Amino acid sequence: PTAPPVVFHYIPWFGSAAYYGMDPYKFMFECRDKYGDVFTFILLGRRMTVALGPKGNNLSLGGKVSHVSAEDAYTHLTTPVFGKGVVYDCPNDMLMQQKKFIKHGLTTEALQSYASLMPAECHGYFNNELKITKANPGPKTVDVLHVMAELIVLTASRTLQGKEVRENMSIRFAKLLEDLDKGFTPLNFMFPNLPLPSYRRRDLAQKEMSDFYMSIMAKRRTGEHDHEPDMIQALQGSVYRNGTPLSDRDIAHMMIALTMAGQHTSSATSSWFLLHLAHDQDIQKRLYEEQVEYFGNPDGTFRPMTYEDTKKLPLMDSCIRETLRLHAPIHSIYRKVLQPIVVPQSLAAPSEDKAYVIPKGNFIVAAPGVSQMDPKIWDDAPRWNPLRWLVDGGIAKTANEQYQAGEKVDYGFGAVSKGTESPYQPFGAGRHRCIGEQFAYLQLTLVVGEVVRNYKLTAAQREFPKTNYQTMIVLPLDPKITFEARV
Ligand code: HEM
Repeated sequence: PTAPPVVFHYIPWFGSAAYYGMDPYKFMFECRDKYGDVFTFILLGRRMTVALGPKGNNLSLGGKVSHVSAEDAYTHLTTPVFGKGVVYDCPNDMLMQQKKFIKHGLTTEALQSYASLMPAECHGYFNNELKITKANPGPKTVDVLHVMAELIVLTASRTLQGKEVRENMSIRFAKLLEDLDKGFTPLNFMFPNLPLPSYRRRDLAQKEMSDFYMSIMAKRRTGEHDHEPDMIQALQGSVYRNGTPLSDRDIAHMMIALTMAGQHTSSATSSWFLLHLAHDQDIQKRLYEEQVEYFGNPDGTFRPMTYEDTKKLPLMDSCIRETLRLHAPIHSIYRKVLQPIVVPQSLAAPSEDKAYVIPKGNFIVAAPGVSQMDPKIWDDAPRWNPLRWLVDGGIAKTANEQYQAGEKVDYGFGAVSKGTESPYQPFGAGRHRCIGEQFAYLQLTLVVGEVVRNYKLTAAQREFPKTNYQTMIVLPLDPKITFEARV
């Protein structure tokens, strides 16, 4: 069997690390031109086989559990941060059960309650931290990533994480989060354990964070704390199929994992979203008008959004979809190959007459962002154009239906496919697919909605910010926006 072609590189062990690390999409599009949809590159001694396009996504994300393993690809990065016994530090079947337990904290009822709690957090932040109000309207230029990181952590902690976490959003807690973050970088991915201070601080922060969640559970048991429904409550009492209950420590570690999964993905997405609004006054105006149309009171104030409301806003929804199309927070999804994977002929380079086989021991890499930005699939692919998702009445074929029918993908409000062979997968696909999508949509809709209701945004720089790929999550570089209170 023929192995996929290997990307040319000068330095044997180092391979393509510099190019891939600097701009993974540029690297992948260029390699696709040279080698086709499936190729292997060397990354610090590892053999990474990229499989591109909807079929490539399917090969990796739809792979059998006997053939591909997420835990073997991620555990050395995630276990020191989340803690032992959960997510990628346990057999896949246990992770699947943990994801079911987590869904109990993301039911419609829970999301309704979360929706009612988020706006107050935004208003408190606008008045006390951002300090741009009707009385003091600005303009004021801010680092939007910083602002959104704070709004996301406040709204998530008040809702998903629970009252006690919000009440303890102290300097100490922020420091622990920062130390965990600094242990969650490409360096940690490449070198799980180095004798560096950041690694030591990561380990100490994990322990302190875990103890903090455990103390909350202990106090709740004695009836010392009252609280709304939240994730800790949803997880307590969960029992694996074999009869083993989740321990407090398991729950603590799952809570850390959820914080890490939801914080940067959503703060990056909302930042990109606001940056596009600041650079596109027409869409910003329409988005404000959508808020007025659905929620405006005659006296110029707004009524709060319910969870149901958040699912009925065509333009808001399209803006989030379009932002995730161009700025999927996760550029590469990895799996370790456990058994040789036969690549269908249709995916191998057309000049090859033999099918490829990806050898055991390689990593297989999915990059849904490549098909999401592929000019062969999308009209005017590089342009942020939320209107592409809208048709009259807001209903359209899914991106996947259009793709399967051989059409260019241009719209699809309200129905993005969940299949593993799709050109649009910002939340992944298959058994490891994201379960936070609805929470993320709720949070993005409410937080951005509150920003748009209260502020006019303008670009503080003429150039749209460049992308920073040096972090685990795809972030905007030096993202400045000018806020001015609407009066
Ligand atoms: C998995 C993206 C928000 C929890 C994933 C995956 C992606 C993703 C691409 C698949 C990873 C893989 O296959 O290896 C996103 C994006 C988000 C977001 C773009 C926001 C815009 C959230 C939130 C939560 C969350 C808010 C929690 C409340 C999870 C969990 C998994 C997951 C538990 C499953 C991991 C697995 O099964 O291996 N997410 N996510 N995510 N996400 Fe999210």
